[in-house]
Amino acid sequence: MEENDMRTITLNDGNQIPAVGFGVFLIPNDGPTYDAVLTALKAGYRHIDTAAAYFNESDVGQAVKDSGIPREEIFITSKLWLQDYGYEGAKRGLHDSLTKLGMDYIDLYLLHQPYGDVAGAWKALEEAKAEGKIRSIGVSNMTPKIWKEFVPQLHTIPAVNQVECNPFFQQKELRELLKKDDVKIEAYKPLGHGNESLLSHPVIQRLAEKYGKNAGQIILRFEVQEGMIVLPKSTNPDRITGNIDIFDFELEESEMAELRRLDTGKGDHDPEAPGVGEMLLANYKVHD
Ligand code: A2P
Repeated sequence: MEENDMRTITLNDGNQIPAVGFGVFLIPNDGPTYDAVLTALKAGYRHIDTAAAYFNESDVGQAVKDSGIPREEIFITSKLWLQDYGYEGAKRGLHDSLTKLGMDYIDLYLLHQPYGDVAGAWKALEEAKAEGKIRSIGVSNMTPKIWKEFVPQLHTIPAVNQVECNPFFQQKELRELLKKDDVKIEAYKPLGHGNESLLSHPVIQRLAEKYGKNAGQIILRFEVQEGMIVLPKSTNPDRITGNIDIFDFELEESEMAELRRLDTGKGDHDPEAPGVGEMLLANYKVHD
């Protein structure tokens, strides 16, 4: 089959983002992230997703530099952590991210969590975008309820909302809400975090056999055909390579419909749970 054109998605601010990004959450700094990012870049990824609270921005920056690939050919996402919310804090947090990455701009910068002085932090991101330090700005972990609470106060509509999303948790209500402003979903844990009951699901296994692909590739292809940006994570070089090799086949509409029916409406993380903002702030300290 011909290669199709789903590799890149246009955001609501006109910028382009590669549909498959390499996620580095939980991969340690000082080696493992460096190795994984270099492997990913060699495998053809041109989109890396990190965050201040992943503690591995410096490995990401070093790997990008050492890859020999021009900076402008690689799409870099990072995220502001809760400790740096508010207008002044966000300016400092962004400065720290740029310093650790060793870069003079970030392609996409997100408010990692929807708590605290979101509006103040967002204003600093808008200014940094106008100054060219960030190309696109977005949010993460916003449920429909949280989106409706914060976004109407913001001058610029976010380009993306990065949330947990996989065939068992398809975020249908959120996707419907974001559609009117053409806000793209970025799926984290797009493979259900390696959930065996998802990977070995008979519908997915049957499609894997039909297309000569593995379960992960079927899931990622489904999500990309649904219009999402996906951020699969792996430290296994074969899976890193395989997870971007999803552009040489296309799921049929009846197969898409079958996969849509796997939704249970439930995920691992509930951003609306009481005290979750305080818990995250207590557990992840980016300045200690
Ligand atoms: P590994 O690092 O050994 O590849 P998610 O991105 O949804 O959080 O899932 C990440 C988990 O899924 C990791 O444990 C990773 O393990 C595993 N994984 C990544 N790619 C695949 C794949 N194509 N098939 C099965 N498991 C995968």
